[in-house]
Amino acid sequence: MATDTRSRDTRPPATEAAVSEDREFSFSTDDYAYLRAMLKEKTGIELGPTKQNMVYARLAKRLRKLGFKTFRDYIEFIGTPAGVDELGTTLNALTTNLTKFFRENHHFEHLGTAALQEVRARAVSQGRRLRIWSAGCSSGEEPHSIAITLLQSMPDIKQWDAKVLATDIDTEMVRRGSEGVYPAASQEGIPADIARKYFEPHGADKVRVTQDARSLITFKHLNLIGNWPMKGPFDAIFCRNVVIYFDKDTQRVLFERYANLLVPGGFLYIGHSENLFGITERFKLLGRNIHRKIA
Ligand SMILES: C[S@@+](CC[C@H](N)C(=O)[O-])C[C@H]1O[C@@H](n2cnc3c(N)ncnc32)[C@H](O)[C@@H]1O
Repeated sequence: MATDTRSRDTRPPATEAAVSEDREFSFSTDDYAYLRAMLKEKTGIELGPTKQNMVYARLAKRLRKLGFKTFRDYIEFIGTPAGVDELGTTLNALTTNLTKFFRENHHFEHLGTAALQEVRARAVSQGRRLRIWSAGCSSGEEPHSIAITLLQSMPDIKQWDAKVLATDIDTEMVRRGSEGVYPAASQEGIPADIARKYFEPHGADKVRVTQDARSLITFKHLNLIGNWPMKGPFDAIFCRNVVIYFDKDTQRVLFERYANLLVPGGFLYIGHSENLFGITERFKLLGRNIHRKIA
């Protein structure tokens, strides 16, 4: 059941004393406990007890900008109707968005070879339809890597109904992803021929993913622990480096829902430090965190 994070404590004054006095804004352990519970309830993300300084650093600039003197005032504001937009900004600030192009490249190699071979085999009886979901896409490097892989591996892609869905809970990441503009330095590690073919200069020190790759992707704001409007089925789902922040029960529900949305034999790619042991029996591990739906 959802925690009611709005029924805030009647904190003993002693807790206030625990707040570091040399900080610009007071931030008690109870304030931190409130923000942790709220983040868990709204996003599934669990912050460890030791992340209080990180949360302070990420939110202090919001307090400064809005003129709040304490975290308690800020927390009270985001719980009011007037604070709804700011609540979104709070959640954006507390997500971890680290990503890069072709991160864990073996997944893209698998997609462009073995996975697409199976998609082609299915197309003989089911038509040329291809659907891939990048769930927890951050600023778009992952879905753009998927789109580039498809363009590279499918010379006949124009004859396919091929789409990549890219979703994230962080609205700012979704905005950036759909723009497809990145610092030139983000191309480090991408083979030069791919960089030349799929990125074009965009102002000083920036590049933009080319239109043919961008046009394969639809970016949407979506909470993985909320309702999903899409019906699938997907041929492959990338959900990498997302569930490390979720507890086991949240992961159980999520992987069950992924299995339900994948075609029989469809592929699930998860991050290098994630695993499905004790979470679900509906996938078979093929190696390097590539899983096949078996049930
Ligand atoms: C570390 S990034 C991973 C990005 C990319 N998948 C990769 O592996 O490079 C994790 C992303 O998951 C998103 N995320 C966390 N909780 C989420 C939720 N409940 N619903 C949707 N996205 C979520 C975060 O906003 C963040 O952008």
